[in-house]
Amino acid sequence: MARSKPTTTGTDRSGSATRPAPSSDIADPGLALTGRPGIAWADRAMPVLGMLRASFADRQPFAGLTVACCLHVTAETAVLVRALTAGGARVYLAASNPLSTQDDIAAALAAEPGVAVQARSGVDRSGYYEHIHRVLDSAPDLVMDDGCDLVNTLHEARGELMSRVRGGCEATSSGAARLRRMAAAGSLGFPVVAADTSATRRLIDHKYGTGQSVLDGILRATNTLIAGKTVVVAGFGPCGSGIAERARGLGAQVVVTEVEPLRALGAIMQGFRVMPIGAAVAGAELVITATGSRDVIGAAELAALPDGAVLANAGHFDVEIDVPALTGMAIDVRRGVRPHADEYVVADGRRLILLAEGRVVNLVAGEGNPAAAMDTSFAVQALALAWLAGTPQRPEPRGLVLDVPAEIDAEVASLALAALGTRIDELTPEQLKYLDSWRIGS
Ligand SMILES: NC(=O)c1ccc[n+]([C@@H]2O[C@H](COP(=O)([O-])OP(=O)(O)OC[C@H]3O[C@@H](n4cnc5c(N)ncnc54)[C@H](O)[C@@H]3O)[C@@H](O)[C@H]2O)c1
Repeated sequence: MARSKPTTTGTDRSGSATRPAPSSDIADPGLALTGRPGIAWADRAMPVLGMLRASFADRQPFAGLTVACCLHVTAETAVLVRALTAGGARVYLAASNPLSTQDDIAAALAAEPGVAVQARSGVDRSGYYEHIHRVLDSAPDLVMDDGCDLVNTLHEARGELMSRVRGGCEATSSGAARLRRMAAAGSLGFPVVAADTSATRRLIDHKYGTGQSVLDGILRATNTLIAGKTVVVAGFGPCGSGIAERARGLGAQVVVTEVEPLRALGAIMQGFRVMPIGAAVAGAELVITATGSRDVIGAAELAALPDGAVLANAGHFDVEIDVPALTGMAIDVRRGVRPHADEYVVADGRRLILLAEGRVVNLVAGEGNPAAAMDTSFAVQALALAWLAGTPQRPEPRGLVLDVPAEIDAEVASLALAALGTRIDELTPEQLKYLDSWRIGS
């Protein structure tokens, strides 16, 4: 795809009102009608974002601001985008993973006022970055990223845009890890709130949302019976622990691998077997990576896996399973033995099944995390962005990765409880006094 002219000039920094209307690059605008029911369905499961949309419409935290987003183009993201536009934002959206783009959702969103979408399912790497550049052409005031490719491209190739950006929000742990490396090197040009520091997000989205949807993606791709299987889960962070719990719930014998002693200990205390990956893969029937690292399943592990083993990745980037090594070992590759399942036959006759090309399995082979799990996460991200929008005097130094402010987490948890119709107790004045004092003992 040819690099298009920017939709706004680099020199016109006087405000969004002077910018040309956003233009989209999507597969088929005619799919908008198909996409709308999907967004409406997600919206019903996202009451917290619904409440924020109403509050944003009232207080207009993004009035006159342009927000550049690089997110999975799904129905849940559409509900988030609507909350931002209700708050006065113009939103430019690129896909954070070409394989997870839902073309009908992209079309439905692109038809909404104040939104431009750059996303086509299955676009190649150059098309992916072209879309990110087109989003950056909007000269954003705020950014929302999922994996740090947008922020990275802005820093590496579009430095002229830096001074305008008030700040950003990063959705995922792998993206936050990249940002922290940028900040440590003094290379981050504006503050970014790392949404993975949100306790609400870790609990509901990563543990319960990803835990469920990863198993769902694997089941859709394989229709395998989990009960009785030996399942290896690499990484016992919020995602890995959720996956491990769900696999156990379906009757699997779950083995966990870790590199952090505390996390490994936590896995043992929860009743999982823990061992090094080399020992774990020898008996594995299904391996799921959720580490945020690379080559967790490398050449040595591939050589040790039994015949028929299934490999799936839940981590953000497609580097956790060494697919080039697997390809190098294969004497035959049978693509699409089932949707999103490729069979690699290696020289000794073993067949290894790779799901979703080693990409994030719940988004490629499934529909990603359920809307109800994304509700609180996206609410955290929307409130973090509103917080940054309201603080034009950014924290100094500018290039910091910030934790989600505790009051945002508390607000989202309160809204979620309200949506569930659950009331909780409040501390009495005596209890408050007791908890505030260090003088009162036994
Ligand atoms: N699929 C999804 O929907 C989804 C959702 C949220 C996050 N993610 C991604 O999933 C990954 C994990 O997320 P998280 O929030 O659990 O992250 P986390 O960093 O909290 O946990 C990762 C764990 O993996 C361990 N680990 C690192 N290298 C390892 C190795 N070589 N072997 C075994 N363990 C290793 C770490 O010690 C850590 O405990 C990240 O890439 C994140 O971006 C995916």
